[in-house]
Amino acid sequence: MRVLVAVPPGLESIARDELVRLGAAAVDVAHGAVFCDADLPFVYRANLELRSASRVLEVLFHAERGAPDVHAVFASLPWPERLRADRDVLVHVQDAGIDNPDAEREAAALRRVVVDAARIARKATTPDPYAIAIRVHRHRDRLTVALDTSGAPLHRRGWRRSSSHKAPLKENVAAALLIELGVDGSRPFVDPCCGSGTAVIEATYLALDKAPAIHRKKGEFAFEWLRGFDARAWRAVQDAARARRKPAPAHVARGFDVDARAIAEASQHAEHARIGHQVRFATGDLRTVELGPPGDLFANLPYGVRLEDRGRAEALARAVGDRLRTDWASWRAGVLVHTSLLPALGRTPERRLLVKNGALDCVFAIFAPAD
Ligand SMILES: C[S@@+](CC[C@H](N)C(=O)[O-])C[C@H]1O[C@@H](n2cnc3c(N)ncnc32)[C@H](O)[C@@H]1O
Repeated sequence: MRVLVAVPPGLESIARDELVRLGAAAVDVAHGAVFCDADLPFVYRANLELRSASRVLEVLFHAERGAPDVHAVFASLPWPERLRADRDVLVHVQDAGIDNPDAEREAAALRRVVVDAARIARKATTPDPYAIAIRVHRHRDRLTVALDTSGAPLHRRGWRRSSSHKAPLKENVAAALLIELGVDGSRPFVDPCCGSGTAVIEATYLALDKAPAIHRKKGEFAFEWLRGFDARAWRAVQDAARARRKPAPAHVARGFDVDARAIAEASQHAEHARIGHQVRFATGDLRTVELGPPGDLFANLPYGVRLEDRGRAEALARAVGDRLRTDWASWRAGVLVHTSLLPALGRTPERRLLVKNGALDCVFAIFAPAD
């Protein structure tokens, strides 16, 4: 089957490399997506092990051109082969680059086609928490129809049970940027403004080669509810991932933040992620905190998008730039900032990656260590 891995725009090449490492065949990159050939166990593995992915979808129909009629395509697809009669379906229609005022009506009509074809017994009035999502994506005269095998988006690893932090980074975005930075546990790791602890936890998972979604609950992946689900293959995929886990790295990953509540939350998240003893969180101000022997540094600075926060965010970015030129110069540093704040860092990065962080245009600036 053909598989589509959805990924935040800007991170496609990282997802492609991850897929290649997992052994995917015929890998092609598109905007916000990577396609590959796969069998069912590979779909399970991709959901469990890809760090950068938002979702893994099974492509049911794809045409690059010709603007096929989506209703005719839906009428021709073998829905009963993949869908169970006791699980509801939702259809999402997305037209890239244009506003389609009919999208909802069209989605409802397409859903009826599927419900009739697969003889789905559930009523639309009783929401099904495990409803299967079918995603229709049109761009000019290209059409893709795909079945969501992930369910909850893959940044939900299972350890962030609740959060009061205002601006947590999505786990898959953090992990992708850490991969880009080259974090592998062989050097000390620190995040001097760690917020809810996302990067510290993802860095530790990378160091341990621990599968990012290993603590999701049973039934949370949509593939578990699709017809043809192979429970034995799924168990084997999980067992193989657990068996591969490396011993604890020599360096404990650390996180600091000025906000004591964020630090308390980060510690709790690490416990839920079952790596509490392999991380250290403490309150601290990144302008003054002592980091110790150099290694890899990741910082996701306040975005300063609200007018009243702008001055403070700019001053903080300047302070980080100063430290990168002086006592942090021997660290390999990756700084995620709103694009408008990049000049405030005052130094040209060795590499930069433009990243869409939700609605925000951000840049991940990588600074090589001075020797
Ligand atoms: C964009 S958030 C980081 C979010 C984090 N990556 C996460 O996933 O939760 C920026 C963080 O910088 C922290 N911060 C602001 N000023 C700071 C300072 N002077 N020193 C350390 N942390 C600071 C804020 O408390 C906030 O948690």
